[in-house]
Amino acid sequence: MTTQVRKVWVADKAGTFANLKQEKEELPPPPPEHIRIKVKFIGLNYADIFLILGLYSAVPEGKLTPGFEYSGIVESVGDGISEDWIGKRVYGAARFGSYATYINVPIVYVREIPKDWTDKQACAFIVQTLTVYYALEELGRFKPNNNVLVHSAAGGCGLAALSILSKKSAKVVGTVGTLSKLDFLNQKYGENPNFTFILREPAKDFESRAKRALLKIDQEDLFDIVLDSVMGDWFWPNYNLLKKEGKLVLYGSASFTPTGNLHPVWNVIQWIKLGWKYIWRPKIDPMQIVKDNKSLSGFNLIHLYEREEWLNQIFGKLQTLELEPPSNIHEFSFDQAIEALTYLKSGKSIGKIVLSVQH
Ligand SMILES: NC(=O)c1ccc[n+]([C@@H]2O[C@H](COP(=O)([O-])OP(=O)(O)OC[C@H]3O[C@@H](n4cnc5c(N)ncnc54)[C@H](OP(=O)(O)O)[C@@H]3O)[C@@H](O)[C@H]2O)c1
Repeated sequence: MTTQVRKVWVADKAGTFANLKQEKEELPPPPPEHIRIKVKFIGLNYADIFLILGLYSAVPEGKLTPGFEYSGIVESVGDGISEDWIGKRVYGAARFGSYATYINVPIVYVREIPKDWTDKQACAFIVQTLTVYYALEELGRFKPNNNVLVHSAAGGCGLAALSILSKKSAKVVGTVGTLSKLDFLNQKYGENPNFTFILREPAKDFESRAKRALLKIDQEDLFDIVLDSVMGDWFWPNYNLLKKEGKLVLYGSASFTPTGNLHPVWNVIQWIKLGWKYIWRPKIDPMQIVKDNKSLSGFNLIHLYEREEWLNQIFGKLQTLELEPPSNIHEFSFDQAIEALTYLKSGKSIGKIVLSVQH
C-alpha cells in the first residue's frame, strides 16, 4: 500500500469562505479497519457554512476540512478488511473531512451503494435522511395520522422529511422561504391531499397561516410534531402550534445565518447584527413546558457519530422504508466548492447540493 496525493479543501481559520483554500497533500495508507475511497461525490450540508464561518460549536481546534458525506469507489483497504471491498461503490458519513479527492474512513461507517442508485444519489442521501428520520421517529415518536410541520421543506432535510412522511399516513404542512420553492413543492406534491405548503415569512402571522393550512388538509387540531431547523422568530409560533403532548424537535438555526461573511475586522456590522439576534434569541421557562404539556428536544447528529452500532441500527430501520433515491440534486465541480457553499447559503437552493470529483 502506498500514500496517495490528494486535493483537499482546508480552512486554517474560521470567519469567511475566502479562508477555504485548496491544497495538495499526501494521504497515508488506510489504517487498520479503514478503507481508502476514491471520492466521486461530496454532499454539502448547511452545517458546513456555520463551520466555515466559525459558528459551529462541535468543531475541533486548528486546521479543518469540512464535509460530512461522500460516495466513491474503494481504492485500497487497511489491515483487518477483506480485499473483496476493493472496487466496490460505497457511500457514508464522516465526522468532518470529506471535501477531498481521496479519504481514509473507518469501515463501520461505509455502505455499498444500492445497485439501482447512482453515486450522486447515494451521496445526497445519508446525512439529511438520517437527521430527519431521527427527528421524526426517535425524538418526535411519530405515529400514523400525526400532523407534522416541516420547515424549509424544499431543502435537503426538508425533501428527505417529505419523502419519509409520504411513505406514512402523515398530514404535513411544509414551509419555504420563496415563491419559486412553493411552486416547486406544489408541482411535486400537488396530487397528495395530505400535504400543503406555505411561505414561512412573515413570522408575525405565521401561526394563523399555519392553522389555515391545517384546515386545508382537513385538520382542525394542531401539530403533533414540529421539525424546527430555523428557530429565531419562528420558535414561539412553532411552540404555540403544538397540540398538548406535541413535540418540538429543534435541530438547526438557519435564521441566524449572517447575510455576509464574518471577517473579524471588516464585518463588524455583521457581528453586531448576529450578537443582537443571539441576545434576543427565544428563551423558555421550564415550568411553562410542564404546564403546557408539550416537549422540546434538540440534537446534533455529530454527537451521535461515536455510537456507530446504534446509528447503523437506525440506518437499517430507514432502509425498510424503501425510499426513492433523492432526485433534486444540484451539482458543482470539486473546484467550485466556494460557489456551491455560497449558493447553499443564499437560501435559494432546492434539494441537495453536491460536488463532483473528476479524477
Ligand atoms: N442537528 C443536526 O444534526 C442537523 C443535521 C443536518 C442538518 N441540520 C440543519 O437542518 C437545516 C437544513 O439543512 P440542509 O443542509 O438540508 O440545508 P437546506 O435546508 O437545503 O438549506 C437551508 C435552508 O434554510 C432556510 N433558511 C432559513 N433562514 C435562512 C437564512 N437566514 N439564510 C439562508 N437560508 C435560510 C432556507 O430555506 P427556506 O427559506 O425555504 O426555509 C435554506 O434553503 C439546517 O438548519 C441545518 O443546520 C441539522
